[in-house]
Amino acid sequence: MATRVVVGAQWGDEGKGKIVDLLSSDADYVVRYQGGANAGHTLEFDDKKIVLHLIPSGIFNGDATCVIGNGVVIDPHALLEEIEEVEAMGGDLKGQLKISGSAHVILPYHQLLDRVKEEHRGDDAIGTTGRGIGPAYVSKVSRVGIRMSDLFHPKALRKKVRDNIADINEALQHVYKHDPIEADPIIENLLEAAEQLCPYITNTSALLHDAIKNGKEILLEGAQGSLLDVDHGTYPFVTSSCPTSGGACTGSAIPPTAIDKVMGISKAYCTRVGNGPFPSELTGKAGEKLREAGQEFGATTGRPRRCGWIDLVALKYAVRLNGMNELALTKLDILDDFEEIKLCTSYRVDGEETEVFPLDLPDVENLEPVYTSMPGWNQSLEGCNSREDFPAKAEEYLQFIERYLDVDLTILSKGPKRSETIVL
Ligand code: IMP
Repeated sequence: MATRVVVGAQWGDEGKGKIVDLLSSDADYVVRYQGGANAGHTLEFDDKKIVLHLIPSGIFNGDATCVIGNGVVIDPHALLEEIEEVEAMGGDLKGQLKISGSAHVILPYHQLLDRVKEEHRGDDAIGTTGRGIGPAYVSKVSRVGIRMSDLFHPKALRKKVRDNIADINEALQHVYKHDPIEADPIIENLLEAAEQLCPYITNTSALLHDAIKNGKEILLEGAQGSLLDVDHGTYPFVTSSCPTSGGACTGSAIPPTAIDKVMGISKAYCTRVGNGPFPSELTGKAGEKLREAGQEFGATTGRPRRCGWIDLVALKYAVRLNGMNELALTKLDILDDFEEIKLCTSYRVDGEETEVFPLDLPDVENLEPVYTSMPGWNQSLEGCNSREDFPAKAEEYLQFIERYLDVDLTILSKGPKRSETIVL
């Protein structure tokens, strides 16, 4: 029995949902530990497709308890909609979904602030998903956040929300030249949602500590990706939480000593949605070809994703940051139709070649990617059911990645369905 963290190794959208869904059949607990409804984890099974934003991706495969951990920020209405959608597809949430009382609540004023702040930034906008994520984490670290456990205490809750809104109205009117907002409708709406959500709210810290003591199998599901980490990503073009494996501990209350394995998920190429540096981005026809073939449009916002070749320098940084001991490579089939495939293997920064991911934003923005080129396999991977079935050129591509990163590939995915996955 083990506790395993599944993290995005790039800028998000690596296919974490698909891999977590697959691994969930053996899990007792599947835990989301950070982020919120900015995530869009797509699952496809039995000719059904669903995009999960808050509910852990283990809900449809086996009977794992699905936990929304303390590190997540929850939009109550988005969660209720998702609960309804999952139940309509046959998911059983009663008794199977647990929400941490310490998780913070996203309120309409967080979404409004997200929007007006982005407008205010103009050309320097981050390109957020507009789901109120940043402002909700600001409330949390400013110690004025509303937690899920506050939903049990309406009287105190009313006062907290009123105080927050009085404060926010100052900023809205005087900084952003926006009309003030009214507290009462927001409070009533929240209390309505509370009635439906309270039965799911519990002390997930104690629940997970018991699970560890009893040798249960736990999967921690990261959202976004390592390079969007607020501490270690391409700051300030990042999200406001810690998707890396360290964040899995603080966001779930599982101590570092209880983590046995860290699995990274990477696409066989690279994408990014939103603004900020992307060294191996392809802006021409090859980028468009990847976007079309990979259907690279945001699962949450529908925005077209920026596409490029796999960036091994950035990936090696993610391997190191997360202490990754295994890697799943997804969307290999998207490269089926390329004569030539490139891998970014170093950067030129100020005339010097380096394999170290720079942390200073101007360095990341100004670096020049250096590529190694390989011939593409130029054939479909459809009939490949094991690694031995792969064309020789695809195998060379995989071996190059393993050698460069010094990490084992343990899952290869070549299509959206569970059946299109090879577990090595
Ligand atoms: P926020 O998390 O909505 O504040 O957005 C901050 C940055 O993270 C933006 O560049 C978003 O596009 C990006 N981002 C947030 N969530 C995801 C995700 O699930 N996949 C990919 N990018 C994301």
